[in-house]
Amino acid sequence: MNIFVENQEIERQKAIAKSLGPLVSGKKACVITFGCQQNENDSERIAGALALCGYEITKESDSADLIIINTCAIREHAEIRALSEAGQFKGRKEKDRSVKIGLCGCMAQQAHRREQIYKSYPYVDFVFGTDMHHRIPEIIKTALESKKRFSFITEKPHNEFGIISEGMPVCRESRYKAWVPVMYGCNNFCSYCVVPYARGRERSRNKADVVAEVRSLVESGYKDITLLGQNVNSYSGGCDFAELVSECATLGGEYRLRFMTSHPKDASSELIDAIAEYPNVAKHFHLPVQSGNDRILKLMNRKYTRVQYLEKAMEIKEKVPEISLTTDIICAFPTETDEEFADTLSLVERVGFDMIYTFIYSPRKGTVAAAMDGQIERSVANERFKALSDLENSIAQGLNDQFIGKTVRVLSEGIGKNGAFCGRTTQNKIVNFDKYVPEGEFADVSVESAGAYVLNGKII
Ligand code: 5AD
Ligand code: SF4
Repeated sequence: MNIFVENQEIERQKAIAKSLGPLVSGKKACVITFGCQQNENDSERIAGALALCGYEITKESDSADLIIINTCAIREHAEIRALSEAGQFKGRKEKDRSVKIGLCGCMAQQAHRREQIYKSYPYVDFVFGTDMHHRIPEIIKTALESKKRFSFITEKPHNEFGIISEGMPVCRESRYKAWVPVMYGCNNFCSYCVVPYARGRERSRNKADVVAEVRSLVESGYKDITLLGQNVNSYSGGCDFAELVSECATLGGEYRLRFMTSHPKDASSELIDAIAEYPNVAKHFHLPVQSGNDRILKLMNRKYTRVQYLEKAMEIKEKVPEISLTTDIICAFPTETDEEFADTLSLVERVGFDMIYTFIYSPRKGTVAAAMDGQIERSVANERFKALSDLENSIAQGLNDQFIGKTVRVLSEGIGKNGAFCGRTTQNKIVNFDKYVPEGEFADVSVESAGAYVLNGKII
């Protein structure tokens, strides 16, 4: 089965985009994004297609004629936020019927959410699924011509291979940081996770297309490039992931190549060797563990044990001593006991993570875990969350203290949210410093003090 959208179809979409010019001229479009980096990248691709249709892309939804909400379904909290964002536009639509509102992303892909949107959010004009991005011109044409609400959805992407489209434009948010998808979807079916249902089966872009995109980014001055996928280690677009990383890291000049996310069962020694070997490959490994207890890992369908995870983490730390190791942990998975949670705490101590993204388990409709008995009370979940945060704060502080007195190379992010001049190290640690360095330029900083999640220093 050919999973690549035919070039002819891409050309057809581009012709539709061109034909919309007169209708769209002078109009603005805004894409609002929730969720992960994959969604951020999808939004940049959606914005690229909208720009091709003739829209001016704006961040201000108030002045936009077209608003697209790109949603996330990973936890209930994300869904509530996206729905409440959609709710904000009720009044706007009542005042001006010509404003078009669309909703897409992982939530839109789920039948029960679409039903809810259809019933309770009558001002949402259209929804489209996670494999429809190349059809944006057709979707916009339908939205402008039709008086009825409509949807562009592949009903069961998890039963299909899914598709890949190349050749549509991308409208990137940053001039120096970029996402490059290498594969889409996930085949792992971790028992708590909605992603395989919302994004379909694993499929990889061709190596030549990925390398060409990274090369063109490097040539146009991008300095921080992240290869993206739900499980990058099962990349299979003409070589393995380690080889893809080494090709993308050796295109000339100083830039950082990152990747995310890796499944511990698939993170290969060759990949770890590539991080050690190539200076351009960032010294940061995000390796979600989820739990430190074997029974819970089994219930989660993670397909590795505590010992196997520890071995992998130690191999990384030995081969790349300057590595920053970060992880995801779910606490209060159904039936998790205090003792089993204590195994997670002890694993955290053994590994010494630089940062942990901790989540309280959130049941997702349609997943195996949502049907499990033994859901944990919220108060217990909150206690576990706090215990993990407290432990991690002290571990992260200890690791960051080791940077005091050292020089770190930072890629400047200009002025941060708190008004400080800031940048990031190869480990992806945030550094605040004393002088302005233009965004996207490298500088050396001598570190003088450290917090658990920030380093402070002076430009050399
Ligand atoms: N509940 C809580 N956290 C979840 N994650 C994925 N699904 C759930 C869920 N149902 C977390 C995992 C994953 C991260 C992206 O989100 O830790 O690695
Ligand atoms: Fe979800 Fe597991 Fe796939 Fe990650 S590897 S996207 S947690 S199913």
